[in-house]
Amino acid sequence: PRRAVLDLDHMKMPRGGRLLLATCLGSLFVLVLYFQSITKTDRPGKSRRSPLQTLYNGDQSELAAQRSLQGRRELLEQACLSHTRKRQVLSPEDLKHLIVDDKHSLIYCYVPKVACTNWKRVLMVLTSDGRYVDPLAIPANEAHVAGHLRTLSEFTVPEINRRLRSYLKFVFVREPFERLVSAYRNKFTRSYNTAFHKRYGTKIIRRNRPDPEPAALEKGDDVSFPEFVQYLVDPRTQRDEPFNEHWERVHSLCHPCLIHYDVVGKYETLEPDAQAVLRLAGVEEALQFPTSGKSTRTDGNMAARFFKHISPFYQKKLFNLYRMDFLLFNYSTPEYLRTR
Ligand SMILES: *[C@@H]1O[C@H](CO)[C@@H](O)[C@H](O)[C@H]1NC(C)=O
Repeated sequence: PRRAVLDLDHMKMPRGGRLLLATCLGSLFVLVLYFQSITKTDRPGKSRRSPLQTLYNGDQSELAAQRSLQGRRELLEQACLSHTRKRQVLSPEDLKHLIVDDKHSLIYCYVPKVACTNWKRVLMVLTSDGRYVDPLAIPANEAHVAGHLRTLSEFTVPEINRRLRSYLKFVFVREPFERLVSAYRNKFTRSYNTAFHKRYGTKIIRRNRPDPEPAALEKGDDVSFPEFVQYLVDPRTQRDEPFNEHWERVHSLCHPCLIHYDVVGKYETLEPDAQAVLRLAGVEEALQFPTSGKSTRTDGNMAARFFKHISPFYQKKLFNLYRMDFLLFNYSTPEYLRTR
């Protein structure tokens, strides 16, 4: 039977040892002991404070930055309490997006279209034992090669739980519709993305376009944004297979109500938030977060322009689909939506 990774209720920071009992998945019971004692996360032979210790026992000079991070954590926790069922179970399979840096005690959940290439580059530098020094010297496609970085799903259940307990866990999020439009533009309007056109474009056109040209059916390279939206809200889509990670919700990729992220960074404040993480990891002197990397930058109003062509009916459906990401990360309902 498959073994379960259990991560129940809320790991309250930073006080005392806490023991949480886990329930079971399948026929096998797995007990997970959550000792949330910060002082016990020190490993032998490691004198430096871990990023987690730095965050929760941080010095006063960091107070302002800490407070905004704490505000986001609390908001997330509250939103999880109000909007999700209490108990859920994770298996190692669900942890494929969580990248592990054992050297610096970090766990990063990557979300495509939220500076994830640059974060992967940074983590490659951090875990490379000096083989890489400059993140931007790593080609983008190299950063996405599976196997360059370790993910939490590769470890055994006790190894996973130990890391979840003692590492600094962080994720970067973005306004959900800005992210979605960025994914659409990147995957469907760039001629070089033929793999996406073949894999998804042909299917979208076959399903949603009346009287398609044979060439469009064959290539799938001219999907419109309304067609893409139709595909997303079609119940058949998720019945057939999970969403591609580029448009999958952060809620499903990173499980923010089960994994208790210590830092929720935002794309809208990428530079200071990334710097805060690097500072906590104690590497801010050695490493700068790359900001000049090529990406599908949007100006914060990109989504409004694309949503003009979406009917209120589909706007509402799409908002419902991405609702959790709006709620959990404190993004307000866009003004341009015509859903009321
Ligand atoms: C949530 O968003 C509102 C409105 O943008 C903002 O004023 C508030 O500070 C945010 N709360 C947190 C905890 O970030």
